[in-house]
Parts: sequence; C-alpha cells; structure tokens
Amino acid sequence: MDNKVGVKILSTGSFVPRKVLTNFDLEKIVETSDEWISTRTGIKERRVLDKGQTTSDLAYNAAMNAIEKAKIAVESIDMIIVATISPDVPMPSTACYLQKKLKAYGAVAFDISAACSGFLYGVATAKAFIKSGMYKRILLVGVEALSRIIDWTDRNTCILFGDGAGAMIFEASDTENDIVSTYLGASGEHTDILNIPAGGASVPASEETIKKKLHCIKMVGKEVFKIAVLKMSLSLNKVQELVGLTDRDISLYIPHQANLRIIEAVAKKAGITKEKVYVNVHKYGNMSAATTIVALDEAYQEGRFKKGDLVELIAFGAGLTWGACILRINF
Ligand code: ACO
Repeated sequence: MDNKVGVKILSTGSFVPRKVLTNFDLEKIVETSDEWISTRTGIKERRVLDKGQTTSDLAYNAAMNAIEKAKIAVESIDMIIVATISPDVPMPSTACYLQKKLKAYGAVAFDISAACSGFLYGVATAKAFIKSGMYKRILLVGVEALSRIIDWTDRNTCILFGDGAGAMIFEASDTENDIVSTYLGASGEHTDILNIPAGGASVPASEETIKKKLHCIKMVGKEVFKIAVLKMSLSLNKVQELVGLTDRDISLYIPHQANLRIIEAVAKKAGITKEKVYVNVHKYGNMSAATTIVALDEAYQEGRFKKGDLVELIAFGAGLTWGACILRINF
C-alpha cells in the first residue's frame, strides 16, 4: 500500500424527506405519549418518505447536494459506496440504483451493511481504496428508509427511527490527509438483540413471517443501550489514541443519534463538555447509516467548527458494529 497517498474530503451533502411525523402523530398510531418518547429518547419528531419515494431517491438528492458543493463532474466519480440496511430491494445494490439515477457510469458501485455504523465503515473503506491507489474519487452515501421496515404496531421500535440521507466525496491527494484516524469493531455474538429476523436465506419470506412482522426491525432495547454506551465510549477514545490525539484536539463530537440518554452517558463517561457534542436527535430520531453524516452536514451549515478543525464521528449499531473516525474539515 502506498501510504504517501492522502485523502482529501471535497464536500458533504444531506437530504431528508419533507414529511414530518411528530410524537403527537405517533400517539394516534400506538399506545405512547410525547412525554414518554421525549424523556426516554430525546426525540420529538422524525422524517418519513412519501409514497412512491425510495431509498435511492433520498441517496440521489444527498449525493447531488454534495456533488454540486464539490463542483465536480458526475462522470469523474470512480466508486460509489452506499451504506444502508433499508435498500431499495435486496438485489441489486442501492449503489447501482443510485449510479443509474446519477448517470455515473464510470464508477464501480456496491453497498455496505453495517447498520448505524455503516457510514463509518464506509469512510474506512473509501480511505483504504484511495490509499491503495485503486480508486481516486469516491462518493459515499449513508441512507435509510427505515419507515419501510418498521413494525408500526410495535411501540418499542416504531417511535425511534426516521428516514434521511447524507453524502461525502473523497479524492486522492498528494498534500492533504483529511481522514486522520479510523477505528472499527464488531461482535457477531450479539446478532440476536437487534435484527430483522426474516426475509433472508435463513428464514425466507412466507405468509407466516409477514403475519408475525418478522421482516421488520426487532430490538432488545435495554441490552442494546448498555452495549452502545460501552462501545461508543471505547471507540471515542481508541480513535484518538491510535494517532496520539486527545480531547483538546477535537472541536466537535458527532455521536450516533439513537437516544439522547446514550449520547449524554457517553459524553459524561469521557468527561466531554455539552458544547462540544452535536445533537439533532430531537428532529430526526435514529436514521441509522444516515445519522452521523446528516449531523456533520448540518453542523457545517450551522458553522459549528471552522476550516481546519478536527471533528470526531462515533457510531454503534446492529451486528453489533461500532466505530469512530476523526476528520479534518478543510473544504
Ligand atoms: N411508549 C410508552 N411506553 C413504552 C414505549 C412507548 N413507545 N415503549 C416501551 N414502553 C414501556 C415498556 O412496555 C415498559 O413498560 P413496563 O415497565 O410496564 O414493562 C416501560 O415503557 C419501560 O420500557 P423499557 O424498554 O425498559 O424502556 P427503556 O428506558 O429501556 O427505553 C429504549 C427503551 C428507548 C428503546 C431504550 O432502551 C433505547 O434507546 N435502547 C437503545 C436503542 C438503540 O440505541 N438502538 C441503536 C441501534 S439501531 C440500529 O442499529 C438500526
């Protein structure tokens, strides 16, 4: 591997559907209350797709947003990576649907399945492909249409999730190195506490699986909560240690936005001040692979850091998977 090749981040972009579903709307769907959802999760509302919209539509809008900001030609993109657990269809990849919508026919295209950590797995993958010299300009999209794979009769899960998309464009550079550090982890022994049980090869779709809603997200919330705090705290520190950085070097932390209580517990454990932690969970809920990149794009638009600053993304999700990355924002 040619380690002299650096990675420059050209831009970020994001897109969320316009339809808002508030906690009060949910009170009409399941036995819940705005008070319960707000105090247990910090979520006030989330976005959901319109009829006829799909995952690759969200991805297209976020990608175009990033492409326009980077001022590059679509044809110059040589790799498209889409991180998602709610693809348009199980086969082919959403990345190929996105390629078609973008008319980016010069690119190779594939999906990554690492749930809420998907965008961070994507950053590490993009870095490795660019540093190896194999590809030069990569579009990475984190996108979810979770409203399509939620059991809307299950109050334990349906209140938590939302739809959205975020994008980032990377290119090879002789001078810049904007992906400062990456750290990833996974533990397959926890596949049972957060999953979609049916619709794959082990439990193919049948009348019974549909009736039991086994094609929807199932979660043992309390277990996931505990491991999320542990692994996000570990990732937060590890990614700094790998390159000899400390909290003083980081301008803004962007943790996965699953639950405000998880974010606060991680920040408290690490001794990080509230001002350095970006939160938008109240607006969007958990958008899985789209969460950290939508938050980064919004924090950029809000001027939450300045050119040259280091920003740390930390995530955790089904698998279980987790990870963190430190990015230099130089665009
Ligand atoms: N409205 C009202 N009451 C509810 C609701 C609801 N929406 N949901 C659950 N309850 C009830 C329960 O039935 C239970 O009642 P009981 O005591 O009579 O049995 C009570 O509230 C407490 O339920 P708990 O599950 O213990 O509530 P908890 O405080 O653990 O919060 C939550 C649940 C919000 C799901 C939390 O556990 C959580 O955030 N877990 C982590 C989720 C997460 O981070 N996922 C990330 C990955 S997602 C991915 O990768 C796709």
